[in-house]
Amino acid sequence: MPSITTGELNLLKDFLYRTAGIDLGEGKEYLVSARLNEVCRTLQISSISNLIGQLHRGKKAVSVAVLEAMTTNETSFFRDAGPFGAITTDILPDLIEKNRSKKQLNIWCAACSTGQEPYSLAMTIRDRFPELNNWRVKILATDIAEGKVLEKARAGTYTQLEVSRGLPAPLLIKYFKQKGRDWEISQDIRDMVTFKKVNLLEIPAFLGTFDLLLCRNVLIYFDNPTKQRILGSLQKHLCPQGYLILGGSELLLGLNQKLQRYSVGGATCYRHEGAA
Ligand SMILES: C[S@@+](CC[C@H](N)C(=O)[O-])C[C@H]1O[C@@H](n2cnc3c(N)ncnc32)[C@H](O)[C@@H]1O
Repeated sequence: MPSITTGELNLLKDFLYRTAGIDLGEGKEYLVSARLNEVCRTLQISSISNLIGQLHRGKKAVSVAVLEAMTTNETSFFRDAGPFGAITTDILPDLIEKNRSKKQLNIWCAACSTGQEPYSLAMTIRDRFPELNNWRVKILATDIAEGKVLEKARAGTYTQLEVSRGLPAPLLIKYFKQKGRDWEISQDIRDMVTFKKVNLLEIPAFLGTFDLLLCRNVLIYFDNPTKQRILGSLQKHLCPQGYLILGGSELLLGLNQKLQRYSVGGATCYRHEGAA
């Protein structure tokens, strides 16, 4: 397999850090070469050197494909029982109580990958909280990978293997229909979620504020200054009474002074200091 030179690897690392904040770390030459060779095949580019050259010159299609190839998009329905349990037993009931007069709920699923996470939230809301049917419930789901990843999320079609990872059978029966060998999520659930490309390094101010913000299993790819910068921006998009949920292994550990750690329904979440 054609491999990558040290100079090319450094250009790639610089690109990933500058555009997405991703810290590639050391010793990944084999993995990087395998992923870039795949991109070369798809885009019909003759070699990794050629690919890195086009990336360096800022060719859009190349940068989208390389970014997508180098991000880890691992996800599944209802990933981690703790946060989804807490959302059902504590967080949504609390937010419903607090937002009862305006009948509005804003949720943001940042770094949503192929959509299983926001659709899990949408199914939870439909299935367990019928009183929200006449509320304005917005689920914004964003990711930096604007090619195949967000396309798949928008399509809402998953393989047998994907639906067998974490999705309870009653929800599969209720909210999906079979499409050939795959499963397509219902239009009603799809309509609850809006997908958009958002880079966590450049969160637009107009995105608004959210009652519940999930940013899970992405901070692990960033160094501390980048985590600090992203958490500072996320915190500005969290309502005063809102909840931020990170991935199970992602701890703030002094990276943001304004967010306090709380244990809610057996899961960990972060809230503004002094939030009730
Ligand atoms: C491992 S997936 C996590 C998916 C989902 N949140 C979960 O926990 O199952 C990480 C996602 O973060 C996205 N990502 C990486 N860097 C990003 C950035 N700078 N801005 C937004 N999304 C990013 C990747 O494209 C990928 O889809």
